[in-house]
Amino acid sequence: MASFIIPFKALFFLIVVLHQSPSVFASSSSIAAKETETLLKWKASLDNNTQTVLSSLWVGGSPCNWVGITCDKAGTITNLSLPDYGLKGTLHSLNFLFFPNLVWLNLRNNSLYGPIPSHIGNLSKLTHLDLSYNTFSGNIPSEICLLKSLELISLASNEISGSIPLEIGRQSSVSEIYFFDNYLRGNMTKLVGLHLQHNHLSGPIPSTLNNLTHLQSLRLAYNNLNGPLPENVCHGGLLVNLTVINNNLMGHIPTSLKNCKSLYRVRLEGNHFTGNISEAFGEIPKELGALTLMFRLLLSGNQLSGKIPPEIGILDLSHNLIIGAIPQQLGELHSLEILDLSHNMLNGSIPISFNDLQSLTVVNISYNQLEGPIPNIKAFHEASFDALRNNNGLCGTTWRFFTVRGYNGRILYENIIEATEDFSSNNCIGSGGYGAVYKAALPIGEVVAVKKLHQSEDSMISNNLKAFESEIHALSEIRHRNIVKLYGFCSHPKNSFLVYEFVERGSLKMVLRNKDTAMELDWEKRLNVVKGVANALSYMHHDHSPPIIHRDISSNNVLLDLDYEAHVSDFGTARFLKPDSSNWTSLVGTFGYIAPELTYTMKVDEKCDVYSFGVLTIEVLMGRHPGDLLSYLSSSASASTSASVPNDLQILLKDVIDQRLSPPKNQVLEDIVCTAKIAFACLNSNPQLRPTMQQVAQALTSQWFPFPSLFMIIK
Ligand SMILES: *[C@@H]1O[C@H](CO)[C@@H](O)[C@H](O)[C@H]1NC(C)=O
Ligand SMILES: *[C@@H]1O[C@H](CO)[C@@H](O)[C@H](O)[C@H]1NC(C)=O
Ligand SMILES: *[C@@H]1O[C@H](CO)[C@@H](O)[C@H](O)[C@H]1NC(C)=O
Ligand SMILES: *[C@@H]1O[C@H](CO)[C@@H](O)[C@H](O)[C@H]1NC(C)=O
Ligand SMILES: *[C@@H]1O[C@H](CO)[C@@H](O)[C@H](O)[C@H]1NC(C)=O
Ligand SMILES: *[C@@H]1O[C@H](CO)[C@@H](O)[C@H](O)[C@H]1NC(C)=O
Ligand SMILES: *[C@@H]1O[C@H](CO)[C@@H](O)[C@H](O)[C@H]1NC(C)=O
Ligand SMILES: *[C@@H]1O[C@H](CO)[C@@H](O)[C@H](O)[C@H]1NC(C)=O
Ligand SMILES: *[C@@H]1O[C@H](CO)[C@@H](O)[C@H](O)[C@H]1NC(C)=O
Ligand SMILES: *[C@@H]1O[C@H](CO)[C@@H](O)[C@H](O)[C@H]1NC(C)=O
Ligand SMILES: *[C@@H]1O[C@H](CO)[C@@H](O)[C@H](O)[C@H]1NC(C)=O
Repeated sequence: MASFIIPFKALFFLIVVLHQSPSVFASSSSIAAKETETLLKWKASLDNNTQTVLSSLWVGGSPCNWVGITCDKAGTITNLSLPDYGLKGTLHSLNFLFFPNLVWLNLRNNSLYGPIPSHIGNLSKLTHLDLSYNTFSGNIPSEICLLKSLELISLASNEISGSIPLEIGRQSSVSEIYFFDNYLRGNMTKLVGLHLQHNHLSGPIPSTLNNLTHLQSLRLAYNNLNGPLPENVCHGGLLVNLTVINNNLMGHIPTSLKNCKSLYRVRLEGNHFTGNISEAFGEIPKELGALTLMFRLLLSGNQLSGKIPPEIGILDLSHNLIIGAIPQQLGELHSLEILDLSHNMLNGSIPISFNDLQSLTVVNISYNQLEGPIPNIKAFHEASFDALRNNNGLCGTTWRFFTVRGYNGRILYENIIEATEDFSSNNCIGSGGYGAVYKAALPIGEVVAVKKLHQSEDSMISNNLKAFESEIHALSEIRHRNIVKLYGFCSHPKNSFLVYEFVERGSLKMVLRNKDTAMELDWEKRLNVVKGVANALSYMHHDHSPPIIHRDISSNNVLLDLDYEAHVSDFGTARFLKPDSSNWTSLVGTFGYIAPELTYTMKVDEKCDVYSFGVLTIEVLMGRHPGDLLSYLSSSASASTSASVPNDLQILLKDVIDQRLSPPKNQVLEDIVCTAKIAFACLNSNPQLRPTMQQVAQALTSQWFPFPSLFMIIK
């Protein structure tokens, strides 16, 4: 296309390859002499030479000591830097031919005028040329293109007119070129990248940008540009990346963007764009196909209002006032990676099409009025609670392939509220570490347990939040018959809760506490409970990668179903043991079950669960928490030095086991003895000497136990 005029503030960032040409001068002393003569001549030529500081400071001796001048070792000038000196005059007598070693020339912000002399082209070593904020006029000399070492050239804010030498546009390497605020014309049709970010550009963006028909990348971010974005910013139809964040741009988003099929990344946030976003992007065919390449569009922090037009692939629309539903078509942007819709007024449910957004990695929909199911995709599974909070009742199922029977995979917030009678105490069946547990009979007949988080008035207590997330993450990952199933969770500013399978008989602790239920839990059932817990822990520690440690195994966190099968629950303190993350932690757990080493080390591993399992097992056999027995044994054990135990310490197992049941006989008795041995091995104060849960689970199944027990058990 044709040439264009740039009467506005715009600066061009191009890239120039560096080459060096040899100096033509032989001796440095002759160079120095010529330089001194030339500088004095130029000083004398200035219109207001008597007023400037040069009149008193550029006198006598070597110019190497003069203000604004730096020399190399040979005494020739490398740097002439006189910005803001009030110099008035021309460059006519400053013959650059005589400065062969100059690398830096800065005469910015003086009152210099006239043409830029063509001998500027003889500064073959120049890397930095700044003549901005003067009143130079005339052609930019084409010799400027001979400056092969140039990295930065600024002729901004002069009265230069005419065309930009074509060759400059052809030099394509590392250089910044600032030409804004002149009267330049140039043929920049070949310009593919215009990068003006992180400057102090002010004023409007020139509408002549429209002429840049080859433009693929326009970066204007972090300036003080104001006014609108040029209407035809995608005139050439090749624009790929457009970044104008953090300016003072205002007005409507150009409607031309909507047809700009090449767009890949658009960032408009941190401006004052206004208007009805539907109008800016709407009016066009409803096909979204046009923008399927788009993976990033940020519009946050504006005052955009209206509905999200279905035609655009939104990335960051956060902190606007967008109302209405999320358009279904958003789910068709299959390359979308980041989606931030937080802090708007979006309502309704998230479109089902979102389940296809497999490329999405980060999502944030917090602070809207969304409700209904959370899409079953990775980004949502991995989203922190923070990214979902403060909506009208979003509910997620945690297991990708799991559905709440009869609910089409959906748990709806209202159903839970209704079923628990708004968490009425009538339906409360217990309390866990960080919440109360309710029984909820859903309308379709399904009964679930709901753990509602203790919440403060408007924000969740951060520890509870952490527990909530740990539980969701741990339980989303594991499925085992002896581990309670998490069906889903709902987040709401008032009520956040987890939905589990309902385990009918409640906690082992309660069953053991009540005489009738304790008696019903006979020896065989008790041995089976111990096996179930061992299997669950063995699975978590050894069959899951990375290993998961529970950290709060206790009789309160083991639930029994109708068949007295154990289900380990309460994963609020669970930790993944990842190779690349620290295993150091703060102390958690239930008093009476915590491994002794955790009182002096904060390093956590599977062996702390093994200890708690040992306590739990003894508890199952005794029918009550073995606290007294354990402290008696540990004080006696520390008194004795050898593995052999004095006679008076020998505990009669038959005296300590649950006396509410009839004494075990035959095979059951042998199994109890073996189980007790295993349990005591788990209680070894040295964590390294405790068996692993895998060994425990195997031993319980085979009833063959290879570990020496700490002390004798008498039948
Ligand atoms: C501008 O450059 C393009 C491509 O080099 C050329 O086709 C066009 O004729 C030029 N226009 C002017 C006015 O020089
Ligand atoms: C360049 O842009 C200006 C301002 O938008 C316009 O008036 C002019 O016609 C354009 N020139 C070409 C060759 O497109
Ligand atoms: C030199 O003259 C210019 C233009 O009249 C003026 O702006 C500048 O301040 C003068 N410099 C000094 C040092 O007086
Ligand atoms: C030239 O001198 C100026 C002012 O002293 C300084 O800011 C600049 O870094 C110098 N350039 C080089 C290449 O030494
Ligand atoms: C130019 O210099 C004057 C005085 O030295 C200063 O007040 C002014 O801000 C400078 N302007 C620019 C654009 O640097
Ligand atoms: C100065 O540059 C001109 C080209 O503009 C060239 O012909 C001449 O040889 C150069 N002189 C020196 C001394 O480098
Ligand atoms: C557009 O941006 C992406 C991501 O930063 C980058 O990989 C790509 O090279 C850019 N394309 C152009 C033409 O600048
Ligand atoms: C926004 O524009 C759309 C399409 O023109 C229109 O239907 C809608 O009413 C507008 N909304 C607002 C809030 O102005
Ligand atoms: C969403 O909000 C709009 C008003 O902004 C209302 O008309 C619409 O009924 C709401 N939709 C839902 C599902 O609440
Ligand atoms: C989601 O957005 C909210 C509000 O902007 C912010 O507080 C929160 O940190 C974000 N969360 C994530 C995970 O990005
Ligand atoms: C944490 O523990 C796991 C399992 O024992 C181990 O694989 C991992 O290397 C440990 N990480 C660190 C940082 O020590």
